[in-house]
Amino acid sequence: MKIQFKCMVILSLFLSGVMALGQDEGEKLFKQVCVACHTINDGKLVGPDLAGVHLRRSEEWLLKFIRSSQSVVQTGDPVAVALFEEFNKIPMPDNAFTEDQIRKIIAYIASNSPGGPGAAGTGGVSPATGKFSNQSLQGDASNGEKLFTGNVRLSNGGPSCISCHNVKNDKVITGGILAKDLTDVYTRLTAAGVQAIIGNPPFPAMSQAYPGKSLQAQEISDITAFLKLTDDIKKNQEGTNYGLTLLLSGLCGAVVLLLIFKGIHSRSKRGSINQHIYDRQLKSI
Ligand code: HEC
Ligand code: HEC
Repeated sequence: MKIQFKCMVILSLFLSGVMALGQDEGEKLFKQVCVACHTINDGKLVGPDLAGVHLRRSEEWLLKFIRSSQSVVQTGDPVAVALFEEFNKIPMPDNAFTEDQIRKIIAYIASNSPGGPGAAGTGGVSPATGKFSNQSLQGDASNGEKLFTGNVRLSNGGPSCISCHNVKNDKVITGGILAKDLTDVYTRLTAAGVQAIIGNPPFPAMSQAYPGKSLQAQEISDITAFLKLTDDIKKNQEGTNYGLTLLLSGLCGAVVLLLIFKGIHSRSKRGSINQHIYDRQLKSI
């Protein structure tokens, strides 16, 4: 009897441990990846508020959509297509999660939705860097430009944005091509979306550049203000296409060099040096 009781206690401790682990993993993944674009019960961000999504959609649909939203959109699924249209055709990035991990994320969303056990305590789940809104943008665009280009170091010591992203802005040299051009990202994602993404990048290639350290709130608003300005003035920018310029100046350089070589060559003596002496010798005979 006693042993049985002990077993029960150990078993239930073990089970609750496993459940807590599952919950933790769902929470961890949600806060690592999804929170950049979604809140739970705190309003729309880049994507829809996910409160109660487990009631709106079937589990099967959620498993497919969360793994690869665009493949669901491409099958012509009416719900997915409508969502994609409603959210300005911003594609939700694919996630290489297992089914089990996605189930844990859904469980986390469910438990923090109104009526779920976690809902009362949290009052909604939103980005840790604070809720971003489109109204409260008070960044300094010129400081944002310096942070973007690396003229001022980011406080977390991470690489400057320009090492991976380009913007069409005459004040800024051409940036990297590893990631998307950010010239009109402000229109595409709005202030809330841009700030959420910079504060908590949902893209592995970007978040790995800033391991464990996110940018400071002020840096986020400054860079966002810079991206807004860049977007506002994009029509007046020359747009430096270094690709073509470099090619052309390379070609010009090659032609100039060839001409110089030709010049040097034409002044050089033709025939053997001794020819002249030889001819003179012949004549003198
Ligand atoms: C870069 C932004 C972004 C990230 C990161 C992101 N989503 Fe989304 N999500 C969207 C957008 C935008 C939509 C709207 C549909 C569309 O545009 O494809 C959406 C739609 C959804 C939907 C459908 C909502 C509904 O009302 O049916 C679910 C579910 C969802 N996302 C879950 C997740 C989960 C879970 C994660 C984290 C693993 C995540 N999303 C990460 C942008 C994002
Ligand atoms: C190590 C490379 C790297 C660095 C550094 C980097 N990013 Fe990114 N960023 C990415 C990748 C990869 C993506 C995913 C989308 C893509 O493929 O372009 C991305 C996506 C984004 C997006 C969403 C773009 C869109 O149109 O959906 C924004 C906004 C963004 N980055 C802003 C920034 C800012 C601001 C900085 C500097 C603080 C920065 N990034 C630094 C690699 C990087």
